[in-house]
Amino acid sequence: MHIFEQKKELDSFLQEERNKNHAIGLVPTMGALHQGHLSLVKTALTENDLVVVSIFVNPTQFDKKDDLEKYPKNLEQDFNLLKSVSKHIVVFTPSTDEIYGNSIKSQAYQFDGLDKVMEGEFREGHFDGVGTIVELFLKTVSPDRAYFGEKDFQQLQIIRKMVESKKLPYHIIGCPIERESNGLAMSSRNERLSKKTREEASFIYNTLLTAKTKFGTESAYHITEWVKSQFEQNTFLKLEYFEIADEDTLTPMLKKQVDRKYRAFIAVYANDVRLIDNLRLN
Ligand code: PAJ
Repeated sequence: MHIFEQKKELDSFLQEERNKNHAIGLVPTMGALHQGHLSLVKTALTENDLVVVSIFVNPTQFDKKDDLEKYPKNLEQDFNLLKSVSKHIVVFTPSTDEIYGNSIKSQAYQFDGLDKVMEGEFREGHFDGVGTIVELFLKTVSPDRAYFGEKDFQQLQIIRKMVESKKLPYHIIGCPIERESNGLAMSSRNERLSKKTREEASFIYNTLLTAKTKFGTESAYHITEWVKSQFEQNTFLKLEYFEIADEDTLTPMLKKQVDRKYRAFIAVYANDVRLIDNLRLN
């Protein structure tokens, strides 16, 4: 497995691959890899000759210094996991200096309001940070296809919007959410949960599943009130937001329209660990 820390070296390696007409897939990650990340890598391997996995904890997308400092890092284990998947993987793991030089700043983006709700409302500047790093990785790797998880559905839609509005020539592919056996969405942050809290956190997915059954007969308002009351009774988890929104515009659903797709989005704190999840409703 090739591991590159510098853009220049990665670039000359990929140039040779392109000369051989090899299709290149890109899976951007922040490391502490789990089966959710690997599912993206595996899908990318079925559709490309070579897959570049970037591992970079991007400082500009963290709104809290503490969250950035506590973000789990396990590079050796990540390399071993990737090696066990395929030899057609290239890892790009640059330093912050290699990416940002001495100016650790985001660019400002226009995401047509997709960045103003939910994660954007609660994590200031987050999506400008995501846009900045994803645009940079796309331009550095110039992949035929880039893969993102529906686990971060808002992020996926925002990246689609960025690629479309900047007319970037890359296919963005969304991949389904991988879950632990109790339903909890896999996340690098789950490593920071105690065994007991990790079990308790299955409550998030179970609540989404019940919300989905209610969606057939009840209004978004009533479902939201019900979810809030469920979390008020839960001593382990604190609800930050629950929203039923249109998949394309991410605006809250007011009145159900038959031709629109809706999703429930949720963010919850388990002590100081922030967990997000979502589920398609129709
Ligand atoms: P990270 O949280 O490491 O996630 C990397 C990719 O894996 C994202 O596309 C995310 O949606 C996907 N992913 C994470 N957990 C998943 C799960 N349980 N099932 C399916 N896919 C899952 O998202 C980021 O990093 C960063 O914001 C990044 C895009 C790399 C930019 O820094």
